Amino acid sequence: MPIIAGALAPHPPHLVYAENPPQNEPKAECGWETLRWGYERMRKDILALEPDAIVVLSPHWQTYIGTHFLAVPQLKSRSVDPVFPNLFRYNYEMQVDVDLARELESAAKDAGLVTALMENPDFRVDYGTIVSCHLLNPAWDIPIVGMSSCRNSAFYSIEVMQEQALALGKATREVLQASKKRVVLVSSNSLSHRHFVRESDIPEDMSKEHIMHHGQYLWDMRMIELMKQGKSREIVDMMPEFTTQAISETDAGAMTWMLSAMDFPTQPAEVYAYGSVIGTGNAVVSWLEPESKRKPLKEFADSLQWEQLGQKIKEGTQGGKFLEGLRNLVDSGGESTRSESRTESKKTPRTDNLPEGIKELFDKGLDKSLVKPVKAALRAGVPEKMLLAAIKRIPERDHSTARVAEVIELTVEAWQEYKA
Ligand SMILES: [Fe+2]
Repeated sequence: MPIIAGALAPHPPHLVYAENPPQNEPKAECGWETLRWGYERMRKDILALEPDAIVVLSPHWQTYIGTHFLAVPQLKSRSVDPVFPNLFRYNYEMQVDVDLARELESAAKDAGLVTALMENPDFRVDYGTIVSCHLLNPAWDIPIVGMSSCRNSAFYSIEVMQEQALALGKATREVLQASKKRVVLVSSNSLSHRHFVRESDIPEDMSKEHIMHHGQYLWDMRMIELMKQGKSREIVDMMPEFTTQAISETDAGAMTWMLSAMDFPTQPAEVYAYGSVIGTGNAVVSWLEPESKRKPLKEFADSLQWEQLGQKIKEGTQGGKFLEGLRNLVDSGGESTRSESRTESKKTPRTDNLPEGIKELFDKGLDKSLVKPVKAALRAGVPEKMLLAAIKRIPERDHSTARVAEVIELTVEAWQEYKA
């Protein structure tokens, strides 16, 4: 399975602070909404792909002698940002895909890189890894593989860093091409990285937040424009100059590694947000592989082809009890199934044997006549997560029985197309 997505996922602890998750001790009023809401959209796109693992390279795990890989199945501790202990004291608990970590480490070693496995169960994970992973998947229900930065940009030169990150990316690609796992790669870094040296009295006071310098902003815009044009090779070519001129956090090699692992994607990247945090430039961006089968789910959000689907059902081009039931629903506009005369004689369908997330929708008032199509979809093998995501994508105002039924049908279709 190829890499299903790459994400540029910056890690200012301020973003977690402003989200107020239960894991973080300090509490904020709000702050940095543009970036946080951008993260929300990226999270939706990426989690809809149902990744098996998230591989993340963080600039704040600095190893200097080679690249290290987290290889402890479970890690639990408290992470405190040394610069912003007032904002980030986060109690984390994560699972690591140790098998994948070992495969990646061994491939990198075979490629001639200096590597090591981190097997110390008391190891404290850096805040860069934690912030990016939290903002991508706050539920922490997907195992990660953490990779360190060997910091060759500091030890030797940015050119050496580039060479090693490119080789690490190639090794990563080779492992993942042969793997059955659906993997998301995460480049955990800001773009331009000059920042204020004094914090405002209220850290989330947005009247004080702005980019540090116009020159670095222009550099960021130049890089983002290349991302939007799908010019990954140019981004990598320009990386040494960009890193030097914009004092960018790309000096850790994360972004070069990710683009190299994705074989320099040529499709336009999805830019969800750009914003400053204590003066640094941060972009939230994804590269979703066409092979990721994202299309079926994206169709729901983009087009929701109600008319076309209704027509299809009316024409009776597809058979089966499931579609027959839907046809009735669509023809009646969802009304007749709710009428008392029809439902009186029938037993209320059971929802207690449905998966929790879906049951919750019925508890909140989703029409019980939809239990049957939902169960049919689950029997057809549609993953619960996918079904739930599809139903939840319908805007509240369109939440009629017939429309939900249509979405369920589209989900089944998309799933069958995906499996084929
Ligand atoms: Fe950082």
